[in-house]
Amino acid sequence: MSAARAIVRDATPVLECDRVTRLFRVKRGLFEAAATLRAVDDVSFAVQEGEVLAIVGESGCGKTTLARMLLGLLPPSGGSVRFAGRPMEGVGRSEIAARVQPVFQDPYSSLNPRKTLGQIVGLPLAVHRIGTEDERRARIAEIMELVGLPAHLVHAYPNQLSGGQRQRVAIARALAIQPAIVVFDEPTSALDVSVQAQILNLLMDLRRTLNLTYIFISHDLAVVEHIADRVAVMYLGRLVELGETGGIFERPRHPYTETLLRSILTPDPALGLPPGPFDGEFPDPLAPPSGCRFHPRCPKAMEHCGATAPEARTDSSGLVECHLYNGKSHDR
Ligand SMILES: Nc1ncnc2c1ncn2[C@@H]1O[C@H](COP(=O)(O)OP(=O)(O)OP(=O)(O)O)[C@@H](O)[C@H]1O
Ligand code: SF4
Ligand SMILES: [Mg+2]
Repeated sequence: MSAARAIVRDATPVLECDRVTRLFRVKRGLFEAAATLRAVDDVSFAVQEGEVLAIVGESGCGKTTLARMLLGLLPPSGGSVRFAGRPMEGVGRSEIAARVQPVFQDPYSSLNPRKTLGQIVGLPLAVHRIGTEDERRARIAEIMELVGLPAHLVHAYPNQLSGGQRQRVAIARALAIQPAIVVFDEPTSALDVSVQAQILNLLMDLRRTLNLTYIFISHDLAVVEHIADRVAVMYLGRLVELGETGGIFERPRHPYTETLLRSILTPDPALGLPPGPFDGEFPDPLAPPSGCRFHPRCPKAMEHCGATAPEARTDSSGLVECHLYNGKSHDR
């Protein structure tokens, strides 16, 4: 992974989360009082220019909520997101949209069915008043070619395209205004396996050609291993481990990451993360376990894990939040 070596770790991060928390008030039933759900809980990390950071974890662990905050679409309840060293609140909606672009899972619902492909890809250019009409037309043609869409489709509507083509349109739209970062939320999970590979190859080519930074949310650990420079692992809103992809896959440190990786070896990886390798049910996010949130399912849980929450430890391998690495006594 040569691009990974070119990343300058001590430069100002292009995007940064500093103790970011997002709470939701939710009602379980009509007659019950609202409770607070910590969808993202005290998460800190920095993304360097040119890197691919993957975010993984089971459904409901807070990946999309975190992504929406990184995109400036949802304000954090606590902590702050910084773009190129500046707090997001002070950057302004239009600049964020110009620099950080999303590509979501379902290309059909994210594309306006009444607009042609040319109008969809050209919309960000028009909104940000980039270029003359002729220049925009030229840019649309250029970007369509870049993402592998035939020129004649410029007048087509989303329902005339295949799933893979629709996702190429979503990618073209995201890239039209030359963002610094693209946040992908499960960009290929709605596509057939063969189309997935084509789209992933396209993303990696584009990243190389355009020197892009990616935040890549995925359930598919095999894909993550293939494309990410670093991997962030979330569990019930917490960032429990973060490290270089090679390290995470060869020597996972957090027991949750270890268990998650075993799920790759299940016979049908297309099923996503099966509950199989874990002991116990996924906990109720409205009533998360005390102490370490993973303790009821952790094969290495120790006596104090249920009482005391571990603190995150950062070292040369990355970040890990587990008592096994806090220097406390344990009986492994
Ligand atoms: N607008 C909202 N109001 C209330 N609760 C929410 C809201 N959005 C998300 N949540 C809750 O926050 C938690 C995290 O949700 P989120 O969608 O971020 O998870 P995720 O990791 O993206 O899951 P998936 O893999 O299924 O997409 C979940 O318990 C979810 O129910
Ligand atoms: S803190 Fe304890 S329960 Fe939590 S992951 Fe580490 S060993 Fe397991
Ligand atoms: Mg999600």
